[in-house]
Amino acid sequence: MKKRKLGARGPELSVIGFGAWAIGGQWRWGWGATDEAEAVRAIQRALNLGVNWIDTAPVYGLGRSEEIVGKAIQGRRDEVIVATKCGLRWNEAGEIRHDISPSSIRAEVEDSLRRLRIDVIDLYQIHWPNPNQSEINAWAELLKLKKEGKVRRIGVSNFDVKLMRQCEKAGHVDSLQPPYNFFQREIETNILPYCREHGVGVVVYSPMYSGLLSGRFDRSRLAADDWRTGHPMFNEPKLSHNLQLVDSLRPIAEKYGQPVGGLAVAWTLRHAAVTSAIVGARSTRQVEENVKAADCTIDDQDVQEIEALLQQYNAH
Ligand SMILES: NC(=O)c1ccc[n+]([C@@H]2O[C@H](COP(=O)([O-])OP(=O)(O)OC[C@H]3O[C@@H](n4cnc5c(N)ncnc54)[C@H](OP(=O)(O)O)[C@@H]3O)[C@@H](O)[C@H]2O)c1
Repeated sequence: MKKRKLGARGPELSVIGFGAWAIGGQWRWGWGATDEAEAVRAIQRALNLGVNWIDTAPVYGLGRSEEIVGKAIQGRRDEVIVATKCGLRWNEAGEIRHDISPSSIRAEVEDSLRRLRIDVIDLYQIHWPNPNQSEINAWAELLKLKKEGKVRRIGVSNFDVKLMRQCEKAGHVDSLQPPYNFFQREIETNILPYCREHGVGVVVYSPMYSGLLSGRFDRSRLAADDWRTGHPMFNEPKLSHNLQLVDSLRPIAEKYGQPVGGLAVAWTLRHAAVTSAIVGARSTRQVEENVKAADCTIDDQDVQEIEALLQQYNAH
């Protein structure tokens, strides 16, 4: 699979990364029950097909996603770049809170290393900014962890340019993890140009808007405790409008032999500042389909056609 260098300092990431949120199973922001054996197979299939990196987080399934990743990469540590995060903690009742205090981060990194069964994290990211705590102190802690060899590279997620600039002053930001898809394009204005200019790698999340843009989304198949059941974009009146956009994109996707999801992933990769798209999957079937997007280059005329369809969508 094609690879791109993560920002100015690397490493080389496959243009598609495995997103491990959905395999975490049941929790406040879960996707219904997970089939652990299938999740392990999905990760291993992704590695066999050239995916060389996995994005997870402690909070995905309250530790479960990291544990499943740890299991799946046993014996294959050298083939995989493991990215995880810090900053979202939970209590016994499963309630989530933001905490980016240095002491909390220090505790989290040890928990992640244990669950992932590894001795160094390849990319460690602050999951979300927290206006009630100092992001700069959190960043200083990540710099310390890097110096100590607990983590190899450090990045941020959901940060704006102002915060990234502040962090960069203390030490290089290796990566940013922002949302990017047909519905969420805010990063195009300032964030992507900033990242290009400052050698910050960009690993985009939810390229298929958590399955909505896959071309196969079916609301009736969602489990009652899937977080998407409560989200306005997956409910009427927006859902029909969103799925109309998907239908209008189908002929373009078909030209490239892709489902709309593949087109959506390839569309994020058209941007030179984007290093890799993190694509979530729960089965080998999904992985096998999704990796094909790595070889899809959308020509300029079709990029314009997609732009026109997005404008029509936004006008209604
Ligand atoms: N940093 C952050 O704040 C943040 C936030 C969100 C996500 N992320 C990261 O980004 C990753 C990807 O984002 P995401 O999981 O939101 O969304 P995504 O990659 O846009 O969509 C993934 C979901 O789409 C469905 N899907 C995948 N392949 C498919 C296929 N071939 N055909 C039909 N459906 C398919 C699956 O759900 P169903 O089969 O259940 O529909 C899958 O869980 C996450 O796993 C996580 O690592 C990070």
